[in-house]
Amino acid sequence: MQAITIEDRQLVPREVADPVPGEGEVLVDVTAAGVNRADVSQRQGHYPPPPGASELPGLECAGVIGAVGPGVTEHHVGERVAALLSGGGYAERVAVPVGQLLPVPAGLSVQESAALPEVACTVWSNVVDRDRLRKGQTLLVHGGGSGIGTFAIQLGKALGATVVATARAGKHDRLRALGADLVIDYTETDFVTATKDFTGGAGANVVLDIVGAKYLARNIDVLAPNGRITVIGFQGGRTAELDLVALMAKRGSVSSTSLRARPPADKARIVSGVRRDVWPLVEAGAVKPVIHTTMPLAAAADAHRLMESSDHLGKILLLP
Ligand SMILES: NC(=O)c1ccc[n+]([C@@H]2O[C@H](COP(=O)([O-])OP(=O)(O)OC[C@H]3O[C@@H](n4cnc5c(N)ncnc54)[C@H](OP(=O)(O)O)[C@@H]3O)[C@@H](O)[C@H]2O)c1
Repeated sequence: MQAITIEDRQLVPREVADPVPGEGEVLVDVTAAGVNRADVSQRQGHYPPPPGASELPGLECAGVIGAVGPGVTEHHVGERVAALLSGGGYAERVAVPVGQLLPVPAGLSVQESAALPEVACTVWSNVVDRDRLRKGQTLLVHGGGSGIGTFAIQLGKALGATVVATARAGKHDRLRALGADLVIDYTETDFVTATKDFTGGAGANVVLDIVGAKYLARNIDVLAPNGRITVIGFQGGRTAELDLVALMAKRGSVSSTSLRARPPADKARIVSGVRRDVWPLVEAGAVKPVIHTTMPLAAAADAHRLMESSDHLGKILLLP
């Protein structure tokens, strides 16, 4: 099959052997694969695949089941699925544990549904499962224009939260159209002051952060009492000083999670939570895939260049 390999920090189209579905896995013929910032880090050598995962990049896809492995009874050849992957999505075929499969939501094409698994699982597992965002609370989303951010804004709104997002100026109209109540140009405006002004001094109950070290102190500053900060990215560095007194004064918490490194049973639990809580919102049209562009699989290197420019908004998909 055609796949994209990583060689000397470059993405190279190659002919490789088809994966063989193991016990409890299916083989998916990939219609579309999502590109994620983590794939860029993997290509750069900063984010190796977890043990046992495919060496090929690609953390999500959608397609049609082409074969089922031993012990699989609840899925069949020809079924349309979306899938959360530990790797291997940049290819014509990928083997997937059944616990990481989702049905293609009603009303979406197979291709569109490839934009959802990684962002839906990441945002649900942090904002809903871990941080318990509630109706009437305020969610602050850093990187509102990212794949993660465009999904988090919509999910926050669908859950009845007030949503504040940070992004460069050119993305603001589109983020407001997705449901953001306030969008802050973080290059010009201090997000702490702007968020507090907007919420009458209350601050944010939940902060979903992709910046990391550079924002730690200000994330605590912007936090409402009993607020939760979850750091899922380190685009602004990994090491910072934590003012415990400032955190204690808010009775706040700071946590950090990674989806890819979780054991299969944990991923299956998250996938089933997404199917229960998020898929109905997608099928009702309250949460939509935001697709910036599609590109042929062989143009994966161009897709990474686009992602590194940050000029995209939402997801980039590769089509084998
Ligand atoms: N831990 C996990 O399980 C997990 C899972 C998935 C993703 N992630 C992380 O989530 C982040 C987003 O992933 P993605 O694939 O959705 O990335 P993406 O689409 O490439 O988006 C990254 C965005 O970051 C924004 N950005 C950069 N610096 C910023 C800042 N100081 N403040 C606000 N926005 C800033 C850029 O938007 P502007 O143009 O507005 O600057 C850019 O669009 C990445 O850091 C990724 O590693 C973590």
